[in-house]
Amino acid sequence: MKAEKSGGRPPNAKPRSSFSGRLGYVLAVAGSAVGLGNIWRFPYLAAKYGGGIFLLVYLILMLTFGYALIVSETALGRMTKRSPVGAFHAFGRGRAFSFGGWMNAIIPMVIVSYYCAIGGWVTKYLFEYLRGSTATLANDNYFPDFIAESASAEFWFVLFSLAVLVVLLAGVKQGVERVSKVMMPLLVLLAIFVAGYAVTRPGAMEGVKYLLIPNLENFSWMTVVAAMGQMFYSLSIAMGILYTYGSYMKKEVDIEKSTYQVGIFDTGIAILAGLMIIPAVFAFSGGAPETLNAGPSLMFITIPKVFASMGFGTGAGLMFFLLVFMAALTSAISLAESGVSTFEDQLGLSRTKAILLMGAIILLLGSASSMGFGVLSGLTLLGMTVLDFLDFLANSLMMPVAALATCLLVTRVVGLDKIAQEVEQSSAFRGKRLYGFFMKYLAPVFILVVLLSSIANVLGWISM
Ligand code: PFF
Repeated sequence: MKAEKSGGRPPNAKPRSSFSGRLGYVLAVAGSAVGLGNIWRFPYLAAKYGGGIFLLVYLILMLTFGYALIVSETALGRMTKRSPVGAFHAFGRGRAFSFGGWMNAIIPMVIVSYYCAIGGWVTKYLFEYLRGSTATLANDNYFPDFIAESASAEFWFVLFSLAVLVVLLAGVKQGVERVSKVMMPLLVLLAIFVAGYAVTRPGAMEGVKYLLIPNLENFSWMTVVAAMGQMFYSLSIAMGILYTYGSYMKKEVDIEKSTYQVGIFDTGIAILAGLMIIPAVFAFSGGAPETLNAGPSLMFITIPKVFASMGFGTGAGLMFFLLVFMAALTSAISLAESGVSTFEDQLGLSRTKAILLMGAIILLLGSASSMGFGVLSGLTLLGMTVLDFLDFLANSLMMPVAALATCLLVTRVVGLDKIAQEVEQSSAFRGKRLYGFFMKYLAPVFILVVLLSSIANVLGWISM
């Protein structure tokens, strides 16, 4: 690949900034991790793929694979002081290393484009709550009509993307971090409040049971595939982000402990979001299968109904979408930033040029995603809309490959001992044995099986 021949600017030529300590690190990673994945994606996947059984599979995967991969990526980042392409190249310069590094680096670029399209929908809802359109938004057809009207969806997408790019251009990373420190606690409070209201609606208890109690009858292999993709997405694994954040981490910060804290925080918000949305589905439509399978539109259809039915609904709607907006914005910024720093480091572009290139990619792929429900609805890839396809491409195909690359790098090249030494710089490595077992045996086999299943599923060879 190009970077290999040109060598690229050494990413660590500038003095590297670092997080102040464990709290700073955990908050920064949580700000990036908590986003649309928790509030928009988790509830609709949990609704679709079996409720409690999905949650159980998700938790098991997080405690095993999630934990092992976060520790690996953070340790590799801290050890090499580089972002993914540089980190892979720090151990070798062959094609396989370029492939592994770039795979990790390209995923955020794919995700950020359709992330901004959804960010646009969130912005539109925020605007409508500001205008007091609470009753209109609760209408069943409001959302499908809105996304089918391409000019409008595109307008809000461009607006959201511009906000992301302007923040990057202004270089106010610090500001964003400060904003997310205030926003995250607010988001938790509001989520508790809305979830509390949602679960006490008549008929909502069925939804709480559906989300929290595993029922084996709802299990299918697709539950595992979807839970795994979601775990990567939500925790920002296999996206280059944790390499980069690890490279800013001080040697005395406990890698394992901070991993647990990020995991608990991220999962907590996802469960709260599930408790806001899934019981509402039961309260308002009796848990009808077509509503449970609504997919990406779930948050935009059921939550407005909750707000329309409650006192202070407009204020609550406004707050809710403002917080989702902030969570989405901080995540989108960190996704885009990861792409920008790859362009700067590997292609030797100036920061402005790197941001413009990132902007062009977002505009191209994001517009196709945003218009995929309107003028481009005829354009389907493997039977999916552009947005669904990009989501599938990134989460079900590319991420397993990127995660596999990390596993192989750790077990075949770097060696488990070196990772352990890195972790042990700050504390005892309590899960060392288990970690080794996951990385060496369980993770690669499992990732391969999941990857092959998604391919077979989409090609129609198996139906899950
Ligand atoms: N984890 C984020 C979410 O759940 O919405 C998505 C994300 C943000 C992934 C930033 C990666 C990243 F760098």
